[in-house]
Amino acid sequence: MAEKLLSLWVFLLLLHPVKPADVATLLLDGFSGGFSAAGNNLTLDGFAAVESNGVLQLTNYTSRWASGHAFYSNPIQFKNSSGEVMSFSTSFAFAIIPPPGKQGGDGLALFPAGDGLAFAISPAKGIPGGNPGSYIGLFNARNNGKLSNHILAVEFDTYMNAEHGETDNNHVALDINSKKSNKSVPVPFNLTSGQVIQAWIDYNSPTNQLDVRVAMDSAKPSSILLSDKVNLSEILKESMYIGFSAGTGMFTSSHYILGWSFNVNGDAKSLNLSQLPKLQLPTATRTKKNRKGLIVGVSVSCALAVILLSALTFYIIRRKKMADVVEPWELDVGPHRFSHEELKKATRGFRDKELLGFGGFGRVYKGTLPNSNTQVAVKRISHESKQGVREFASEITSIGRLRHRNLVQLLGWCRQRGDLLLVYDFMPNGSLDKYLFDEPKTILSWEQRFKIIKGVASGLLYLHEGWEQTVIHRDIKAANVLLDSELNGRLGDFGLAKLYDHGSNPNTTRVVGTLGYLAPELTRTGKSTTSSDVFAFGALLLEVVCGRRPIEPKALPEELMLVEWVWEKWRAGSILEVVDARLGGEFNKVEAVVVLKLGLMCSNNAPKARPTMRQAVRYLEGEVALPETVEAPDAYDEKIGGAAASEFVDYSYPTSSSAGNKRDVDLETGYSSSLLSIPR
Ligand SMILES: *[C@@H]1O[C@H](CO)[C@@H](O)[C@H](O)[C@H]1NC(C)=O
Ligand SMILES: *[C@@H]1O[C@H](CO)[C@@H](O)[C@H](O)[C@H]1NC(C)=O
Ligand SMILES: *[C@@H]1O[C@H](CO)[C@@H](O)[C@H](O)[C@H]1NC(C)=O
Ligand SMILES: *[C@@H]1O[C@H](CO)[C@@H](O)[C@H](O)[C@H]1NC(C)=O
Ligand SMILES: *[C@@H]1O[C@H](CO)[C@@H](O)[C@H](O)[C@H]1NC(C)=O
Ligand SMILES: *[C@@H]1O[C@H](CO)[C@@H](O)[C@H](O)[C@H]1NC(C)=O
Ligand SMILES: *[C@@H]1O[C@H](CO)[C@@H](O)[C@H](O)[C@H]1NC(C)=O
Repeated sequence: MAEKLLSLWVFLLLLHPVKPADVATLLLDGFSGGFSAAGNNLTLDGFAAVESNGVLQLTNYTSRWASGHAFYSNPIQFKNSSGEVMSFSTSFAFAIIPPPGKQGGDGLALFPAGDGLAFAISPAKGIPGGNPGSYIGLFNARNNGKLSNHILAVEFDTYMNAEHGETDNNHVALDINSKKSNKSVPVPFNLTSGQVIQAWIDYNSPTNQLDVRVAMDSAKPSSILLSDKVNLSEILKESMYIGFSAGTGMFTSSHYILGWSFNVNGDAKSLNLSQLPKLQLPTATRTKKNRKGLIVGVSVSCALAVILLSALTFYIIRRKKMADVVEPWELDVGPHRFSHEELKKATRGFRDKELLGFGGFGRVYKGTLPNSNTQVAVKRISHESKQGVREFASEITSIGRLRHRNLVQLLGWCRQRGDLLLVYDFMPNGSLDKYLFDEPKTILSWEQRFKIIKGVASGLLYLHEGWEQTVIHRDIKAANVLLDSELNGRLGDFGLAKLYDHGSNPNTTRVVGTLGYLAPELTRTGKSTTSSDVFAFGALLLEVVCGRRPIEPKALPEELMLVEWVWEKWRAGSILEVVDARLGGEFNKVEAVVVLKLGLMCSNNAPKARPTMRQAVRYLEGEVALPETVEAPDAYDEKIGGAAASEFVDYSYPTSSSAGNKRDVDLETGYSSSLLSIPR
């Protein structure tokens, strides 16, 4: 009762009698009644909603890649009549609740929380361009860092995104026009504990001082957590909107605001946490089993006891045999471990009916996680080298933390004996090769192809540069590009090729990859690099535009090698003749030339002559014009000793073979069907 009466208390007060327009006190304390639908003074968008008990929910942990905004509908005057920014102060109560689940151990997946919430000052009633994921509804890849944003935010971020320079997953930070924070400080307690947390933000205009305090308390602490000096006169416009933004990505949380006060030229009133509406906490998905009283009759015969005992022994032994192998390091990363049982259930016992396909590394099954009904793809990798599996599995810790909208997210794994099971996001539209080669059921339009290309480029750039360590994909090809429900291209299988390095025989260097996508230097050095990925990306670009494989055994001899054919057409000035005829001439000629030209540049035999992925992305986004001329892919071969040219040509023809190179090439597809071993 008391909650209902107190949950809404809003008034606008004019404090200063002389300059009424300059000063206002706005005190919001819970959002119920008037703050739900009609006549409310909050503008909600995305996943934001006011619950019946007066709690404002910005995101729900049930929705991935979701954002929500809640802004006070009336503009706030931030500059006084002499055009100077006024001091302001706000305090608000929030709670972050990650998806329910149990910590590690019994195999129930517990995902980290993501991504965060922020108090924001924006020129609009909301933040129209704010993306979910790492941008938590504040910015997007295009406007990030631009002075024209005029956005100031104080974020409470629960996922570490190294691409924005973040170094922990539990911080408060000041963001001015950019998700790359001006200043960031770890919060001394757990933001995702589900407890109600109060934050105070105070800006003092004469000293340019912005202070942030946080506490799980009603009283404002004297100690300041984050403090920065910033002159807001260029950032804030005269009239701005205030509110909240939150976003989820691959990992999710419910983000709540329970109370809010705001004041210009004076302290905001602190909130009494015990008077706020109460959160309805989710119940854990796995509730305790009802305890069944064990009623044991006195008359249980000895025989029955013996049967029970032997059954129990059998059960224990079986359990032990079937138990997943748990290494000490795995306990540190409990969140991503699935139990074998769970994955077996999800894929209905790895039924053939659930088989999605055969990858280079194993079978892929469709599955539905029993607890959340989430659709997943489960890749089952059998590997003769237990050592290889073990070492690869220890890398999952880092690979699992890679997050990008153009990567197929690795959700978790399970290891049992020699079996490694990897759990990925399910991609409803399958792999790109199905849309390009042979007789595809659906022909992708030019717009769709270009979007896929740009997506793959941005995913690969993230692997190469966007993370704390460089990740080399090693097996870029159309079959490893998966399409999500919106036909965005997403790279799969990243890092997986490394599995074969770990288990390799010391006398051989395993060259991992697929014929036609293998950079020529790989055959000499055996070392994958970012530029060997770029080479494969070049082959992919040509494939997507031309709609055929890099090596097409069924083609006319002069068309066998895609890159050579494209180069000849380029030299002859008839480059557009290579564009997939199935497009019926309907494509953007400027974009097609950009992609083909870039494809040729990436296909250069000399690694140094290839662009980096960063440059490739700039070319594709039209930020930088491509050079007028393109070098022949084999232009540098002379300089590097002639060997490369012959090796390249030799290597490219599936039927030829040079001494010592074991090849296993599927002539139907032109792909090598297994890995290539080259003795040193
Ligand atoms: C909403 O804003 C109007 C002014 O636009 C104001 O008169 C009214 O009191 C406000 N209502 C609430 C509940 O804040
Ligand atoms: C979150 O979303 C789910 C599914 O849409 C819904 O059933 C649930 O009630 C929501 N939870 C909250 C707290 O709003
Ligand atoms: C506007 O604000 C600045 C900074 O707080 C102050 O120095 C100045 O006197 C104010 N001007 C008026 C007209 O109130
Ligand atoms: C910090 O804030 C200023 C605005 O005062 C902005 O121009 C600058 O780019 C920001 N610095 C960083 C490192 O984000
Ligand atoms: C924070 O709290 C959540 C929810 O109780 C818990 O799952 C998580 O492990 C905690 N994190 C830390 C670093 O203590
Ligand atoms: C902030 O910058 C503006 C102009 O850029 C200047 O006029 C003003 O005095 C500065 N304010 C403070 C408090 O330094
Ligand atoms: C908060 O509210 C409770 C109950 O209404 C009251 O007993 C308590 O004194 C208040 N605390 C503060 C700091 O005002």
